[in-house]
Amino acid sequence: MSALLTDEQIASFERDGFIAVPDFMDSQTRASIRERAIDLVDNWEPSGENTVFTTEEQERVSNHEFLSSGGRIWCFFEEEAFDERGELRQAKELSINKIGHAQHDLDDVFERATYTSDLAQIAADIGMADALALQSMYIFKQPGIGGEVSCHQDGTFLYTDPLTVTGFWFAVEDATIDNGCLWAAPGGHKPPLRKVFRRVGSDDEGTVFEDLDETPLPDPAKDLVPLEVPAGTMVILNGKLPHWSDVNRSPVSRHAYTLHCISASATYPDWNWLQRPADMPLRRLDRSDRQ
Ligand code: FE2
Repeated sequence: MSALLTDEQIASFERDGFIAVPDFMDSQTRASIRERAIDLVDNWEPSGENTVFTTEEQERVSNHEFLSSGGRIWCFFEEEAFDERGELRQAKELSINKIGHAQHDLDDVFERATYTSDLAQIAADIGMADALALQSMYIFKQPGIGGEVSCHQDGTFLYTDPLTVTGFWFAVEDATIDNGCLWAAPGGHKPPLRKVFRRVGSDDEGTVFEDLDETPLPDPAKDLVPLEVPAGTMVILNGKLPHWSDVNRSPVSRHAYTLHCISASATYPDWNWLQRPADMPLRRLDRSDRQ
């Protein structure tokens, strides 16, 4: 198949560390994953400890559900979902931060939206012809309570040697400054990876951040630019690109689907927080590993 990205788009991705590809995900696909995400939440019953996700407090939330979610479908609550008495402040469907992290392999609708020849070709266009689909998230960014995602590099959380993680972020709904769009630092992928997030101990004991480089991450208030994009746009993010998103204090949601891929030729250490069960090997985007 021939390239889908132009030479200019590829050059811009290499220069800035990100690129927005308009009209990548059609409205039917967006509607189908949106509907399925809402069904997954409807049918999901939280068991035991509730699982909140913030990058600020990774260590606190590194519980069993989080650490085992690499091979299943789990719903994570917003940090502000519960009041002081531990009761949900609003309906469950408006309290979920995201669904993760293996729906691209475990759910038919997400699988169809993920393993497409167009995405495989675009991955190849940016040098990832052997892309493996590692991790997916459906992010709700709920109206009113959708939480901030602090400035980070994806390589911190999904490390490979050499670093190959690449984020594919799909706007299921319009993303604006008001509803918590992505912000990124143009060219910010050139300095090194600052830290890694490692499992420690055996089983689900926990995780720690380990510093690799002291260069400060960009300041979201000064150094980042907003990536306001209409629904259907795909944003591709280099794994070293610092990015951030604000709280959604607007009355409208900002649904997005993200897929993180790594190169099959890179080493994926067993200390990464996300591990897949042995019977769920990673699959290539181009489906060349399919029978
Ligand atoms: Fe990220």
